[in-house]
Formats: sequence, structure tokens, C-alpha cells
Amino acid sequence: MSEGVSFVIFGATGHLSRTKLLPALANVITACNIPIHALIGVGSRHRSDKEFRELVRSSLIEASLGTACIDRFLGGTIAYRSVSDEAAYRELGDAIRDVESRQSLPSNRVLYLAVPPSQLDKTIGGIASGGLNQSNGWTRLVVEKPFGTDLATAERSNQLIHGGFSEDDVYRIDHYLGKETVRNLLVFRFANALFEQTWNRNHVESIEITVAESAGVGDRAGYYDESGAVRDMVQNHLTQIMTLIAMEPPVGMDAAAIRSEKVKVLKAARSIDRSDAILARYGAPLSDSGDGYLDEKGVAPRSATPTFAAIRLFIDNWRWQGVPFYLRSGKQMSKRATKIVVRYRRPPVCLFHTSGNCPGHQNVLTLNLQPDEGFELLIDVKQPANDMEIAQIPLAVSYDEVLAAAPSAYETLLADVIEGDQTLFVRSDEVEASWRLFDPLLDETDLATYPAGTDGPSDVNRLITTHPGSWSNL
Ligand code: BG6
Repeated sequence: MSEGVSFVIFGATGHLSRTKLLPALANVITACNIPIHALIGVGSRHRSDKEFRELVRSSLIEASLGTACIDRFLGGTIAYRSVSDEAAYRELGDAIRDVESRQSLPSNRVLYLAVPPSQLDKTIGGIASGGLNQSNGWTRLVVEKPFGTDLATAERSNQLIHGGFSEDDVYRIDHYLGKETVRNLLVFRFANALFEQTWNRNHVESIEITVAESAGVGDRAGYYDESGAVRDMVQNHLTQIMTLIAMEPPVGMDAAAIRSEKVKVLKAARSIDRSDAILARYGAPLSDSGDGYLDEKGVAPRSATPTFAAIRLFIDNWRWQGVPFYLRSGKQMSKRATKIVVRYRRPPVCLFHTSGNCPGHQNVLTLNLQPDEGFELLIDVKQPANDMEIAQIPLAVSYDEVLAAAPSAYETLLADVIEGDQTLFVRSDEVEASWRLFDPLLDETDLATYPAGTDGPSDVNRLITTHPGSWSNL
């Protein structure tokens, strides 16, 4: 990669930028050998260029980047501009053009919007009024999740964006798509004919997708309390995993082919009935030493924001008709675990389990996405004795042991933005289809509670209508 590029990050001093974006950007600039670059941080508060440069330096140090990488990144132009009105956006446009001409940069720009949904439309309007989307090279707009807060806002933001950008230049981020283990789902399914033959309603009884977090909302309550489990995790991260698991084989590995197949899954998903969802909020832990969600700093006293969601949904197409997809995500759960559990149907005839264990076990494939990446397939074997006693044993692979370490999700995604590859980004019709699916749950205020540190409210198993009648252990 040889071209130079300018990065303009809106929300550059925020938590996401400091902890994820800036370190990933520095790594990508170094690893991709980008010869010249400029970083312009944009925010609402005033800061000097020098203060911003120091913030960048400390973010990179905190992320334990090597000195050579830090020096190289800080060796480019680093500037900061605050924006409040149209005039400030015009000045920002001038400042970018000025940096490009002084550094002889080729007018290739990444405009990265790391701003909350409430700021999105205003920022897009400012970008257009400042002419930031007009350059002699390419300009790519990257938008962080959540994209909108419901279907109506997502549609409005898409319209606004399309007023100034072609969809081919828009990169809606869902960082789960940049995770190596999530990308691996396509390889697992479509490079191994073994699984794909059985990946359908004839062989699969149910599919469970869990993204459980042991942490609470930490210092992000301001954002989270306006968002909650469905907007923050289900509409994006879990839905992305579900579409990759459920989609048909694409005709090729290009962005258009893959993204079109994902949209088809969402279009085939049946509307979710309220009785198919359990929304809940964590209370104090059982030990009683700790806070419940309503006691967290920054949470509104009468907040009705769910920190947990469990949903049963169906995809009404030929492949998945009748197979329940169980989705579960929560904060302050007993463990951090992201995994997919595929339960196969049991054998049609019970030949071996003659002693009260009929109709026998089922093969269970577990894809562990984090933290212990790998997969496990439970299969039946004969116990070593004269009787036909059957045991289930795991065939397990830990990626750590067999594969090299992967780049972070943000590094992968930033490198793709620079390359112009949209495969791992969410298309406008896709983001709208997923909001359409979950819209009925967004205003729900009737919440169950669960003690922090546990796996959800007491009646969470009522959603599981297939064997074994309960969610898998984390
Ligand atoms: C973010 C959510 O998108 O993903 C957070 O806003 C959540 O609330 C995070 O904690 C989880 O990401 P990861 O990569 O730690 O699984």
C-alpha cells in the first residue's frame, strides 16, 4: 500500500477513540507502510493541537504499542479542531485541504464518525456544509454503531448520508465483523463441506447465540442508559453473527454477494412476538456487596433500560423453517463468553441407549468466539466395556494452540477502509432490516431483574422450547 491518507476522527477524544481507534490506527499505519498521513481530531470542546497530540501519545502508550510504532505515528501531522456551527465545519474543510497541500497528500480521506447516534445527523450535515466530502481523491465515511436508535432514525440517517455520499463510500462499523473468529464463521461453513451438508432444518434442531459480559456498564452509563441491551448488542453484534450463521452460500466472496445474502436472512426473519423475548436489568449481586444497575453512576433513577435480552426467533425460509434461533446477551453475567451452539437432531432410531437414556444424545457443535477461541463437537462413543454403554466426548480445537495471533478487530476494519473493501461493513438496507426486526422490543419498559453475576432472570429457560429445555452453560 503506497498512497497517503488523512484521517479525520469526529469524537476523537472519546472513550472509543482513545482505547480502540487510535491504537489500531497507529498499528495499521505502521503495518501497512502508509508513507504519509495526517490525523485531524474533531470534537465539541476546545483543545490545542499540542494537547491532542499528547492525548494520542498517552492512548498509544496505554495500549502498550512499541516505541517505533508510536514515533512513526506521531511523526505525521496531528491536529485538532473543535466544531460547533457551520462556519466551524467550513474552517475544518479548509484546515484539511491545507494539511493535504502542505504535506502533498493525495486528497484521500477517511472521515470517521465515532459519535453517539444523537450527534450523527448533525455531524453528517456539517460534513456536507464544510465540503469535506469533496476531494480530488477518494473520501470514505465510516460510521460507528449503533447506527440510529430505531428504524425511523436509521432510515433518516441513511437518507442524509446518501445526500452527500454514494453507498459505495459508506462503511458502517460493527466491530464484531472484524473479529477473526467471526470472520472465520464463513470459512468454517463454506470451506468445510462436512458441515454445510447438515446446516439446515433437516439436521439442526436449534441454534443458540450468546454474547455474555461479566462487566457492568462501567463509566459508559451516560451512553448505555439511552441504549440498552437490544440497541447496544442484539440489533448489531448478535444479529451479525446470526446472519453469518444462517445465510446461504454467496456466489462469490465479494462484498456485494456476501452482504446481499445477509440481508435475505433478515428479510426472512419472522416478526418477533413480545412473548418471545425476555428483557431484564441486573440488580445487586447475591453476595449483596455491589451495585445494581439503578445504583450505577449516570443511570437515571427511573431508568427502564434493559441490560439483558433473551429472544427466540425464527427464519421463515427453506433452510431454517421451524428451527428456533435463541439469542442471549447481558451485562454483569457470571462469565464473559461469546459462543454459538448448534444442536443437531438426535438419531431417528434408538439402538444403543437401552437403559433409560432413550432417545439418546445429540451432537452439539459449539463455536467459541471469545475468550477461548475454538470449537468443540460432542460425539457419542462406546465406553470401553462389554456393554453398549455410550458416552459423549468432545472433539475440541483451541485456535490459540494451532493458529497465529490475529490483529484486533479495529485494525482489520481500518485496513479494509483504506483498501476500499466493504465486505465487513453493514449496508444501508441491512441496518434498516435489522432495526425493523427488533423495533417492537425497543420501547418495552416491563423488565424482569436478575442478580448481578448470574445468567439472567429466573424464568429465562421458558424461551427454550427444544431439547434440553435450558440455555447452555456459559
Ligand atoms: C460494544 C458495546 O459495541 O461492544 C459494549 O457498546 C460492549 O457495551 C462491547 O461491551 C463488547 O465488545 P467485545 O469486543 O468486548 O465483545
